[in-house]
Amino acid sequence: MTRDEIIHLLSIDEAAALFGEADRVRRLHVGDAVHLRGLIEFSNACGRDCTYCGLRRSNGNVQRYRMSTDEIFDAAKAADGLGYKSLVLQSGENCQYPIKDMCALLRRIKGEMDIAITLSMGEKTREEYALLKQAGADRYLLRFETSSEELFAQLKPDSSFKERFQCLTWLREVGFQVGSGIMVGLPGQTVEMIADDILILEKLDLDMIGIGPFIANPETPLKNAVSGTLDLTLKVLAILRIMTKNAHIPATTAMGSIEKGGRERALKCGANVLMPNVTPTKYREHYQLYPNKICIKDQPGDCSLCIAGMVRSLGRTIATDAGHSLKVNI
Ligand code: 5AD
Ligand code: FES
Repeated sequence: MTRDEIIHLLSIDEAAALFGEADRVRRLHVGDAVHLRGLIEFSNACGRDCTYCGLRRSNGNVQRYRMSTDEIFDAAKAADGLGYKSLVLQSGENCQYPIKDMCALLRRIKGEMDIAITLSMGEKTREEYALLKQAGADRYLLRFETSSEELFAQLKPDSSFKERFQCLTWLREVGFQVGSGIMVGLPGQTVEMIADDILILEKLDLDMIGIGPFIANPETPLKNAVSGTLDLTLKVLAILRIMTKNAHIPATTAMGSIEKGGRERALKCGANVLMPNVTPTKYREHYQLYPNKICIKDQPGDCSLCIAGMVRSLGRTIATDAGHSLKVNI
């Protein structure tokens, strides 16, 4: 698809044909099985000050927590017990979790469970990424959020656009399956910028692509900004499915939070992954990137039942394998 074609598709009102085509491509290239990734939000500590995020360093209203390695291990056990074949360990950036402890934890989980591990803990050095890979992590998620260098600088005042892309290269080099993505509907973001985001996501040849609507958070400088919409986010998802064919693309929590039924709609226009929350319930309310986040009061078992029901109601199945990358280079 060309930039102009993408811009056109992002601008049309009636997207039923686009969604139908994305669903067809999804069925053809990744099948009906939905991969479940149990999400453990292990620390909300963050050293950065992104203007959109509730966990930003300057937000003094957040009760900060850092789960111990034993607690994370127990959460991983719970995920394993619920039958999940992969885990995502996520935290704020520079959350100060010593790499040595993280590596020991990864080895312990990998030693006891047959489960794939994805990390989502921000920018690190190449050496740190290599250590995490050696310790057994399989995948890494690092969204670049927007491909507009100017918008990036406004939204992430203490990050460097170039360093973030450098990190994506390093992650590949040390052998991770790599995921990246963007937020849709950011203040100041145009459809032209989103078209560029899509082209860059395609060019990066990612194993996983995570996108979600921007949701204005009252605890941040962007509290008065207009949130993104589910409709535009789903168009981005559908276009990415058609262009990338076999990337793993989740129906994200933000899609389900901005609108009831958002994740179900995503599964019907290209998504093939869900990320049920397995964070211990007592920590969930403290991990609010954006307001009205779903599942804050639920237990890991609740999310498991909810997700199983969702998958079944759509006539889809739950994958029984780890859901590794479908790209040929892995
Ligand atoms: N609205 C939507 N998504 C958000 N994220 C952070 N803050 C928000 C928000 N206010 C997303 C970012 C980040 C991911 C973990 O959560 O894209 O990469
Ligand atoms: Fe948590 Fe539905 S996924 S309750």
